Amino acid sequence: MRTRVAIIGAGPSGLLLGALLDRAGIENVIVERSSAGHVLSRIRAGVLEQGTVALLEAVGCAARLHGEGLVHRGIDIAFGDHLHRIDLHGHSGGRTVTVYGQTEVTRDLMELRAATGSPTIYEAAGVRLHGLDSAPYVTLAAAGVEQRIDCDFIAGCDGFHGASRQSLPADAVRTFERTYPFGWLGMLADVPPANDELIYASHPRGFALCSMRSPSRSRYYVQVGAREEAEAWSDDAFWDELRRRLPEEVAERVLAGPSIEKSVAPLRSFVTEPMQFGRLYLCGDASHIVPPTGAKGLNLAASDVHYLSEGLIAHYRERSEEGLAAYSTRALARVWKAERFSWWMTSTLHRFPESGPFGERLQRAELDYLVSSDAAMGMLAENYVGLPF
Ligand code: APR
Ligand code: PHB
Repeated sequence: MRTRVAIIGAGPSGLLLGALLDRAGIENVIVERSSAGHVLSRIRAGVLEQGTVALLEAVGCAARLHGEGLVHRGIDIAFGDHLHRIDLHGHSGGRTVTVYGQTEVTRDLMELRAATGSPTIYEAAGVRLHGLDSAPYVTLAAAGVEQRIDCDFIAGCDGFHGASRQSLPADAVRTFERTYPFGWLGMLADVPPANDELIYASHPRGFALCSMRSPSRSRYYVQVGAREEAEAWSDDAFWDELRRRLPEEVAERVLAGPSIEKSVAPLRSFVTEPMQFGRLYLCGDASHIVPPTGAKGLNLAASDVHYLSEGLIAHYRERSEEGLAAYSTRALARVWKAERFSWWMTSTLHRFPESGPFGERLQRAELDYLVSSDAAMGMLAENYVGLPF
């Protein structure tokens, strides 16, 4: 088989890139290790920046998002038994975020692709990348049959554990990493959310987050030890711990119900530089990870594929190589700002075992400053709604 762009991975990065290329008439094939059902079973964050929404609109994939997504103009920061509202809209020149699960974004993009008819090879085994310097191709086995896809470019959209980043020669890349000494225990339940807006809570017992998927479905998280297992937490233990970490007025509004899903996710910051090697371009989690505090993962994937699609479109339409040559530099400039913001949100709101009394006082001063300074709230708002791209 021959195509112009071989896309590795059918997560949000790969599917959105495929949609942007389809719209520009650039032939592409997606190769995915798992089944579509498995890809859709993963529960991830759910806060979309306006720039991400605009890209989904541009590819004609925003109808359900506009119908079911919840537009939020603010978030709450909780500490010292009080809620402090940050007016995102007022502090960002009128911008908002849309609460809509990543799983739903993925489902919508899969449906769009099925309607477009561009090929996706699911359950591809042994995916390997070759000839990155000049004549790239991908090999795989689908339903036991070996296949080879020759292409002009490969887009590595296969997440943190994918084959793309691992195909880079060790001396061609540099990685930057920070792991945090805790994880998030997440729980999804069909109960109305405790609050209209998201609450990020800092508490001596640890961080907690109140989020949602719809007016009848809540998504909650509590900070737990890095090695804790979800199975060790009964639903009752989860609801108790969550309530203890929230201001009393909110805790009283938390409605408990049986969990639909419960899992522990580690927190990590990770960046690969550069995001390009020869004819391979990395996008999304294949190239960088942010801790989920701030919900930047999916939004960074969207800005990456936007830059890459612009480069590819200029290559095919105008024979211009400038966009592709600048891809890594443009994408990394935005990635590092989101890394900084996600690290700052994480550091400001979580309990760190090693911080000690001095660190705790500093953290409290940071929070007091944040909710009393227009400049500090402006910094949070500008980053939370998403820096321009
Ligand atoms: N070959 C083919 N596909 C692969 C391979 C491989 N060797 N390894 C992984 N994949 C697939 C995975 O099964 C997954 O469907 O690549 C896809 C990567 O999807 P994600 O991990 O979701 O990464 P990405 O599309 O970059 O999405 C960005 O935003 O909120 C964050 O971390 C969150 O997933 C999210 C991300
Ligand atoms: C979520 O709804 O899953 C969510 C929301 C905000 C975050 C992280 C996760 O910062």
